Amino acid sequence: GFDIGRLRADTGLVTLDSGFGNTAAYKSAITYLDGEQGILRYRGYPIEQVAERGSFLETAYLLINGELPTVDELAVFQNEITQHTLLHEDVKRFYDGFPRDAHPMAMLSSVVSALSTFYQDSHNPFSEEQRHISTVRLLAKLPTIAAYAYKKAMGHPIVYPRNDLGYVENFLRMTFSVPAQDYELDPVVVNALDKLLILHADHEQNCSTSTVRLVGSSQANLFASISAGINALWGPLHGGANQAVLEMLEGIKRDGGDVDSFIRKVKDKEDGVKLMGFGHRVYKSFDPRAQIIKAAAHDVLSALGKSDELLDIALKLEEHALADSYFVERKLYPNVDFYTGLIYRAMGFPTTMFTVLFALGRLPGWIAHWHEMIKEPGSRIGRPRQVYTGVELREYVPVEAR
Ligand code: ACO
Repeated sequence: GFDIGRLRADTGLVTLDSGFGNTAAYKSAITYLDGEQGILRYRGYPIEQVAERGSFLETAYLLINGELPTVDELAVFQNEITQHTLLHEDVKRFYDGFPRDAHPMAMLSSVVSALSTFYQDSHNPFSEEQRHISTVRLLAKLPTIAAYAYKKAMGHPIVYPRNDLGYVENFLRMTFSVPAQDYELDPVVVNALDKLLILHADHEQNCSTSTVRLVGSSQANLFASISAGINALWGPLHGGANQAVLEMLEGIKRDGGDVDSFIRKVKDKEDGVKLMGFGHRVYKSFDPRAQIIKAAAHDVLSALGKSDELLDIALKLEEHALADSYFVERKLYPNVDFYTGLIYRAMGFPTTMFTVLFALGRLPGWIAHWHEMIKEPGSRIGRPRQVYTGVELREYVPVEAR
């Protein structure tokens, strides 16, 4: 076995592992992922079952608490969250200050960070009570924060949350209702969004979750840690990929729908062009979430009576890429983001909101990891080592003598 004592001592031996491809930074009991076999489980439950039989709030409870809630536990959890959906009126002034064309992910991370200023009574990560209330506040308020970001971009008045609606219903209504017309909730849309949030809820040590843990390891409060995670998620190689996929599909459509010439560009690595929504650090056979989402894309579009030329382009792009040796050799398959954007689009979300929806889904996972890290006995501050490549030693010459 490992001699942990010796590993923890500074032996002078450092492993360089670019992108942490093979370095486990934490032990975790939350999510199991087998990339060779395409297996994903939340707390031991297969993702297919959680998505089919569960709700997003049940999933959040499961990830954070480790067990599925009973009927009573779920009712208490749901009720607590419902009681905290309002934002302090002063929070609205942040939105007044943002430019109208600000990216909603920037608004999301800024406002979540600002929650630390409003809730200074929940900063102590070692108080169970404070951990709980900050968790409830975040889960309750993120949909409101996200809906306000959308309203800001649209120039519409904000819509307050309503306590008689479920989590997803409330978010959709706050997003899409306007004074002249109340948004009509469609069960197809509600269920599909609930399922998509479940599929995004956790994915072990991805870039944003590791960021939350790293920031949290300095004992920064939950709001500060999650705000950092939101920023990490924004990048196009991570959660920003769902926006990038849609933009890619639109680009292919503009160029006449020729997927093969696009694939050629990708293979030639022309200007760093990638097939967005393809490839994954861990999945090397298929992404189980992508399979569920591909089926959902068909269902939602047909249930809403919408056809989308971009879906046809996506299907053709997937088929041609999967038959191409470039993608086969590199084990590149569609990931969770390849089809989500098409569903969000059919629901009426603009492209810039796609990554915000990812953040809403990933929130319980981030929170669960933050709790697990804080509660781990002997957990230490995250502090990677480096391999120094600069000048070894030189004499400092005063500025006038240079
Ligand atoms: N299109 C074209 N080529 C690709 C792609 C892609 N989407 N993904 C990887 N490759 C190629 C790389 O260029 C590299 O080729 P090479 O051996 O000729 O140099 C090889 O496949 C290995 O790729 P890496 O970049 O080493 O893979 P890594 O594990 O570092 O990256 C990542 C994973 C970021 C997901 C990558 O596949 C990618 O950029 N995909 C597109 C963006 C995307 O969809 N991101 C969402 C990820 S899922 C999520 O966050 C929810």
